[in-house]
Amino acid sequence: MNISFDGKTVVVTGAAHGFGRSIAQGFASRGARVHVCDVNGAGLAETMKLCGDRTTAHVLDVGNRTDVQALVPKFGDVDILVNNAGGVRGQVGRPIEEISESDWQTIFDVNLSGAFFMSQAVAPVMKKRKSGRIINISSGAGLGISLTGIQAYASAKAGQIGLTRQLAHELGPWGITVNNVAPGFVRSNPTTERQWDAMGEEGQARLLQNIALKRLGVPEDIAAMVMFFASDYAGWVSGQVISVDGGK
Ligand SMILES: NC(=O)c1ccc[n+]([C@@H]2O[C@H](COP(=O)([O-])OP(=O)(O)OC[C@H]3O[C@@H](n4cnc5c(N)ncnc54)[C@H](O)[C@@H]3O)[C@@H](O)[C@H]2O)c1
Repeated sequence: MNISFDGKTVVVTGAAHGFGRSIAQGFASRGARVHVCDVNGAGLAETMKLCGDRTTAHVLDVGNRTDVQALVPKFGDVDILVNNAGGVRGQVGRPIEEISESDWQTIFDVNLSGAFFMSQAVAPVMKKRKSGRIINISSGAGLGISLTGIQAYASAKAGQIGLTRQLAHELGPWGITVNNVAPGFVRSNPTTERQWDAMGEEGQARLLQNIALKRLGVPEDIAAMVMFFASDYAGWVSGQVISVDGGK
């Protein structure tokens, strides 16, 4: 399958690292003009080097609606939005009694509110042009339970899957598709590296044994599914969640 995004304008959030960087590279190498957004400016600079000169970096906290509304209209005619920014924000699993309001809110701001604010900001231009693609990155934690035990993460990702279905129906009449990729465990950031180490040899072997394909994924596995949802091949697919986890 040969997918080209020549002439397309793509926005990728959380693109300073990990999946977001790989997704941005995937689009850039297939001809797209890519706007990469993240809170991490240094990481964005690295992504820019890998993506080439049709890519533009923007320091943006997707959980800040005012900043999102001020920036996104400057991107012009956005064809594709990938809401990838997220994660556990340095938190670890703790008992419910120990979770503060700000612990809870921080995870919701990036994983759920951010996807909503970004979608809200691109919707007018996509509706005007009667086409568009929105792809949200959730997690196996949003479909089942989180390996980390972080309540807010499982809840925010489940909420983001609900948002995907709802927006697919709201925006479908304008030819806009909204889909969701639910990745399995990938060693793509310091948190997942710590989780991997904490599993020990036995835990690591058990994790691999429970994956049909008997290997861990890599960021490119996630980017490939995003590219499919964004492509012409997925023109009649909307409101769907696909697990990219090697088979469970
Ligand atoms: N790695 C995994 O095992 C895994 C599994 C399931 C789902 N996911 C999800 O995939 C996405 C990418 O994860 P990753 O492994 O590449 O992690 P990562 O930490 O490498 O990338 C996440 C990026 O989001 C950015 N970010 C965080 N808060 C932000 C904010 N408020 N505004 C803008 N950017 C912000 C971070 O700076 C970082 O660059 C996340 O949504 C994560 O929840 C990851």
